[in-house]
Amino acid sequence: MEKFLTLGIETSCDETSAAVVLNGRDVLSNIIFSQVDIHKKFGGVVPEVASRKHVEIISAVVDEALNSAGVKIDDIDLVAATYGPGLVGALLVGLSYAKGLAFSTKKPFIGVNHIEGHICANYIEHKQLTPPFLCLVVSGGHTHLVHVKDYDEYDILGKTRDDAAGEAFDKVARALDLGYPGGPLIDKISKLGDENAIDFPKAYLEEYSFDFSFSGLKSAVLNYLNKMKMQGIQVKKEDVAASFQRAVVEVLADKTIWAAKKLKIKNVALAGGVAANSRLRKELERLCEKYGFNFYYPSNILCTDNAAMIASSGYFAYKKGRKSNLSLNAYPNLKI
Ligand code: KG4
Ligand code: ZN
Repeated sequence: MEKFLTLGIETSCDETSAAVVLNGRDVLSNIIFSQVDIHKKFGGVVPEVASRKHVEIISAVVDEALNSAGVKIDDIDLVAATYGPGLVGALLVGLSYAKGLAFSTKKPFIGVNHIEGHICANYIEHKQLTPPFLCLVVSGGHTHLVHVKDYDEYDILGKTRDDAAGEAFDKVARALDLGYPGGPLIDKISKLGDENAIDFPKAYLEEYSFDFSFSGLKSAVLNYLNKMKMQGIQVKKEDVAASFQRAVVEVLADKTIWAAKKLKIKNVALAGGVAANSRLRKELERLCEKYGFNFYYPSNILCTDNAAMIASSGYFAYKKGRKSNLSLNAYPNLKI
């Protein structure tokens, strides 16, 4: 039985994370230091603050990942780190640390695409899941509908033309004065609201398009709130949140199902921070059951940014013969 250990490192945004993963699927450790409390008071991630915090903590986080996995750096077979997309200063911290570590210990190194990493979280959660499958990747920075043809072969069917789904959640939450990050807060208060209270617009775009657009919906919510304020009408935040969430979820789920039908695929997966959304999981679960697709999603800890998913993605790409050299740079706008 193969025993291949990958050390993953992730610093693309505001989580400093390191993980040790066995054979691409078994997590021996997954240390996540979230900076969310630091950025909260600014209402969003401040890039320079994020980079500086990563620099302060990266070394301790990597040591902790090795220690809690009960391994030494010498036991590691591959070092994998996110090289994009993300905040350039933040990316550079984890990437440089990983390259330095690989160089000094003479280990192979591989750069990982953060979006592919999110998809691979599903391999950790679902040991039987293998390509091909369809994956809806929804996070603070990305909204992609991806046909995962093989471990290192991804075909993008559609993506957002403006705001990412998570970004829309965060902006609407800010307008409702809920706090940051907004997604989980909208999810929570929506449970107390009527999702049919307000009929916000859903953008399906052109017929058969798998692209998304959330800026119109976001503006519609902001306009609604302004109008109510001007008229002196007190809104019920729970109803606004639930109605907004329904509009996002229905478009995401409908397009995912259309794509699954078109590809005649059996397996449908969800990934990224917004994959933690309870309403989205429920809707996709319902539709997948109705149309006979298997439905997969990672547990909450693997939905948000973490290094275990990066290690998994690095492992599978390496096994396909890919490897990066130590001159690899960070790419803030890296595509799949
Ligand atoms: O994947 P992630 O941790 O970071 C990026 O790569 O962007 O995703 C963070 C995003 C944020 O926009 C956050 O509000 C959203 O995921 N999010 C949620 C939920 N939990 C996190 N959005 C909706 N419902 C949730 N339960
Ligand atoms: Zn992410």
